[in-house]
Amino acid sequence: MNVKLHLTPTSFKRSDLADNVAVVIDVLRCTTSICAALSAGARGVIPTIGPGEAVDMWTKLGSNLAILAGEREGVRIENFQLGNSPLEFTAESVGGKLVVMTTTNGTRAFVESSQAALVLSAALVNIGLIADRIVAEGRDVAIVCAGREGGFSIEDTLCGGMLIDLIAAEQRGELDLNDAGSLALLLYRSNKTAIKQSIAQGEHGRYLTRIGFADDIENAAAVDSIPVLPVLQDGRLVLEQ
Ligand code: MLT
Repeated sequence: MNVKLHLTPTSFKRSDLADNVAVVIDVLRCTTSICAALSAGARGVIPTIGPGEAVDMWTKLGSNLAILAGEREGVRIENFQLGNSPLEFTAESVGGKLVVMTTTNGTRAFVESSQAALVLSAALVNIGLIADRIVAEGRDVAIVCAGREGGFSIEDTLCGGMLIDLIAAEQRGELDLNDAGSLALLLYRSNKTAIKQSIAQGEHGRYLTRIGFADDIENAAAVDSIPVLPVLQDGRLVLEQ
């Protein structure tokens, strides 16, 4: 199986992913929040690039059906009902609703990956199910790390490395990795007993702690704590049936 890891969502052409499973990772915090929202009973999460697009979509769907969530610089966007902390996505806030979401890096990564044959939303909280699904699918894999403002991020790369490690353990036969995939695997294998610390010490982890979201790091680092399988269908992330 061919597995390519992309350290950022701008290091490939959309059409390159056509026959692949694309796995989007934004541990802090978009894909962790997507797992939280779907696990709390949201009907789906609609990733959008900008706040304007999100508001238009929410207006079209109507406030009975949809709720607006998103952040810029980590903080809830003015006039949005929810920010991007996984702890905000509860049965009370999102149960039965479609969540229209825009985040700085994560939601854009879904749009960049949308031409893949299958698009999955992965974080540490659901990584085991994601690995199982990839092995069952048997296609080549593109792991798309959302990164941070155009650069790579330690938490997404670490999560990508853990995913490669799990796929390698489950899959019979060699994995054909690109160099970024090998780097992610080395990063994971040399830090697997200190995942939370490595995330907390990264740029985005330190930033979130500074602005009052330290609990989100704890939540995002809890491996397999939200075992759900979000897949992109018709522009919405929904639980795979
Ligand atoms: C993003 O998409 O850049 C992140 O999810 C930012 C955040 O921590 O809210």
